[in-house]
Amino acid sequence: MTKNILILKGSPREKGNSAILAERVATGAKEAGAQVESIYLHGLDIRPCDGCDLCDAGECIIEDDMQPLYPKLAAADAILLASPIYWFTFSAQLKLCIDRWYGFQGHKWKEVSHKQYGVILTYGDTDLYTSGAINAIHTFETMCRFLESRIVGIVHGSLNDVGDAEKHPELLQQAFDLGKLLASEK
Ligand SMILES: Cc1cc2nc3c(=O)[nH]c(=O)nc-3n(C[C@H](O)[C@H](O)[C@H](O)COP(=O)(O)O)c2cc1C
Repeated sequence: MTKNILILKGSPREKGNSAILAERVATGAKEAGAQVESIYLHGLDIRPCDGCDLCDAGECIIEDDMQPLYPKLAAADAILLASPIYWFTFSAQLKLCIDRWYGFQGHKWKEVSHKQYGVILTYGDTDLYTSGAINAIHTFETMCRFLESRIVGIVHGSLNDVGDAEKHPELLQQAFDLGKLLASEK
């Protein structure tokens, strides 16, 4: 069965480090036979969840660019979350999107449950702890536990300027391998 992989890119920099690594994941996944779609979140109108809880009885009622994203999330077998670290966690663009998954509560979260997740994180500081990337990982791990889902791989690296990712063949390779894994994991 062809796997359907959705990539959510959380950086405003379209050719930035997390985006380049996310595209390597896409290449690996496509080479392994998956169908892949990448979404550049910064280009979308995604408003914050307003906590109205009307989704409890149905669907999210906010008419914005999350509406076409909901069926894509539901259809994905695997989701890649790619983000720069901004202020010691993942970006606001990605947080806005994930907060709106609350809109699935009326269906007991089933649209975003029982999936495989991959994670790409890039940061300017030297390691997972000083950069704050560890906070993003904790959040994704907690989220996946709640959604009865699994993180199959995390690729992270200390990169700063646009163009830095291309200078790190080991990270590009890890991202490519993560794509293959997402495409093949049952
Ligand atoms: C607003 C802002 C906040 C940042 N906060 C952090 C941070 O808390 N920790 C860190 O290590 N790097 C931080 N950085 C650096 C970025 O995480 C780093 O440049 C990253 O590689 C950018 O990824 P991108 O090219 O995909 O956008 C910050 C950069 C910006 C613009």
